[in-house]
Amino acid sequence: MSAQLIDGKAFAATVREKVAAHVARLKEENGITPGLAVVLVGEDPASQVYVRSKGKQTVEAGMNSYEHKLEADTSEADLLALIDKLNSDPAVHGILVQLPLPGHLNEDLVINSIAPEKDVDGFHISNVGLLGTGQKSMVPCTPLGCLMMLRDHHGSLSGLNAVVVGRSNIVGKPMANLLLKDSCTVTIAHSRTKDIEEVCKQADIVVAAVGRPEMITGDWIKPGATVIDVGINRIDAPEKGEGKTRLVGDCHFDSCAQVAGAITPVPGGVGPMTIACLLANTVTACCRMNGLTEPDGLTA
Ligand code: GUN
Repeated sequence: MSAQLIDGKAFAATVREKVAAHVARLKEENGITPGLAVVLVGEDPASQVYVRSKGKQTVEAGMNSYEHKLEADTSEADLLALIDKLNSDPAVHGILVQLPLPGHLNEDLVINSIAPEKDVDGFHISNVGLLGTGQKSMVPCTPLGCLMMLRDHHGSLSGLNAVVVGRSNIVGKPMANLLLKDSCTVTIAHSRTKDIEEVCKQADIVVAAVGRPEMITGDWIKPGATVIDVGINRIDAPEKGEGKTRLVGDCHFDSCAQVAGAITPVPGGVGPMTIACLLANTVTACCRMNGLTEPDGLTA
């Protein structure tokens, strides 16, 4: 391996420290404790793990955590009524509705019922539009985490060729907009892109967010490029024993690391940054709502 490892776990710890320091100041100087409400509908095991982790880290940062666990068959009207209540609750500065929602609930309708200034996921159509037009918005947590690591590694991103592989609303599209805002030349590649290997090979920065295990291999990477791997895929690992599995990214780590200048590992790369950025977004939302100075370096 010749690439420098970008340690997302350590980076996330520094983000959480900055958040905690700002929270302490808000409490002391303004008598305000930021509050994050997380709404979970149903009992999806992966979602339960995420929600527990979010709640724990919110409290560790000195903020208030409000968890709302609803039955899987909760009606849309009841969910919207809860969001309405949270929208007008002055103790709540951030609202996150854990996705995916059960099939009978309209995700777009639910997300767009969150007050945009409390939308710490940055999924509300107003925030999507603000980001797309280069205006101040709430920014989706995973792309924000990727951007922070890229800025830290490169300093300025201006003029760099960036290829985002994947066109999801949660990662690919907002990531492309953030890179464009930082003056990269941006390409979004996806399953229908012709000569996708060649497209990636032009990139100074590759952000992989497709959800296909180890799809991107070292021969797709320009020597010295920075590789940010958003993928978290569980695959069979018979070499570890019968029935065992392991986590891999969307990039084939060993071959990419031989060519890249820097790379994020999986696990321990982008993953830990997502919740750290959720905490950062909650503090940012709280400051904006109260007309207070936002913490430095925690927003786009
Ligand atoms: N489910 C998986 N990732 C996310 C996320 O970033 N936000 C929400 N609300 N749900 C998710």
